[in-house]
Amino acid sequence: MSIAAPLIEVRGLQKFFGPPSRAVRAVDDVSFVIHPGETLGLVGESGSGKSTIGRALLRLVESTSGQILYRGEDLGAATGSRMRSLRSKLQMIFQDPYASLNPKMRVRDILGEALHVHGFAKGKEATAQRIAELLKLVGLPPEHAARYPHEFSGGQRQRIGVARALSVQPEFIVADEPLSALDVSIQSQVVNLLCDLRDQLQLTMLFISHDLDVVEYLCDRVVVLYLGRVMEVAPTEALFERPLHPYSQALLAASPKPDPLQPMTHVPLQGDIPSPVNPPSGCVFRTRCPYALEACAQARPELQDLGAGRFKACIRDDVDALSPP
Ligand SMILES: Nc1ncnc2c1ncn2[C@@H]1O[C@H](COP(=O)(O)OP(=O)(O)OP(=O)(O)O)[C@@H](O)[C@H]1O
Ligand SMILES: [Mg+2]
Repeated sequence: MSIAAPLIEVRGLQKFFGPPSRAVRAVDDVSFVIHPGETLGLVGESGSGKSTIGRALLRLVESTSGQILYRGEDLGAATGSRMRSLRSKLQMIFQDPYASLNPKMRVRDILGEALHVHGFAKGKEATAQRIAELLKLVGLPPEHAARYPHEFSGGQRQRIGVARALSVQPEFIVADEPLSALDVSIQSQVVNLLCDLRDQLQLTMLFISHDLDVVEYLCDRVVVLYLGRVMEVAPTEALFERPLHPYSQALLAASPKPDPLQPMTHVPLQGDIPSPVNPPSGCVFRTRCPYALEACAQARPELQDLGAGRFKACIRDDVDALSPP
């Protein structure tokens, strides 16, 4: 395990949308750390709060409460000018590369603007040089600098999105479903690109996805989220080998792997996700949990440290040994 101080620390993050009387509790008391050089996966069903956490980390949405620390500095306390200078360190790769690139700008102007805003543009020639370097870094020919976004394929556009994020030499990247708008046939190319760049540039990453295969391939550790709360945190290998929280078990069972040596032992998820406006009392997963007890409705389970980097928020210690009822 890493003994270095975390690069990112999230403490008790809450984000509610709408009026207090019927607030959407999108993120409710979430804490985790991301170590330098680590890729942390964030998984959970649609609506579980993944994007909201990613956006809150970069202060693209204001948190309701809690703290986000970057190298120990509270981003919520950063002034406007401090935050502008931190922005280059903290970048985002978006789900839909087309929507996030200005269609009226050539690629060289899109990248040039990012360089300019953060003071990385040092004269015309050096900027053109840097743009050519960035395109090469993401596997595109430098001539493509003269093109407009619509003149690229989806995978190429995502490469431009990646080049733009990297143009300002970030330390930390939030990649929010960077593959889901792409053809399956080119997803693996973009995964490999992200993997190479991460290693080459020593990037720290929060990787948001509901493609569990990609998470297993790319991430060092995983946070499993349900209805705005953390259910389980574990090293990737341990989680996929032996999920300990009933929700993680169900989520992994819903994405079965054709492996005859590992028979399916867990039941996939049943029923609908409750409304985040009026979440169940106690454990929010209890209404869909095959192991729920009366006590699960009483108090919200703490995230317990199980050792070996594993944590789970569940009062039952025996679910791993039980077969589902
Ligand atoms: N601007 C907003 N106003 C009101 N509610 C919002 C807003 N943004 C998100 N929400 C709500 O917050 C909850 C979490 O949304 P979020 O987009 O973070 O989920 P997600 O895990 O990223 O889902 P997906 O996998 O579909 O992308 C959802 O209930 C969503 O409807
Ligand atoms: Mg999302």
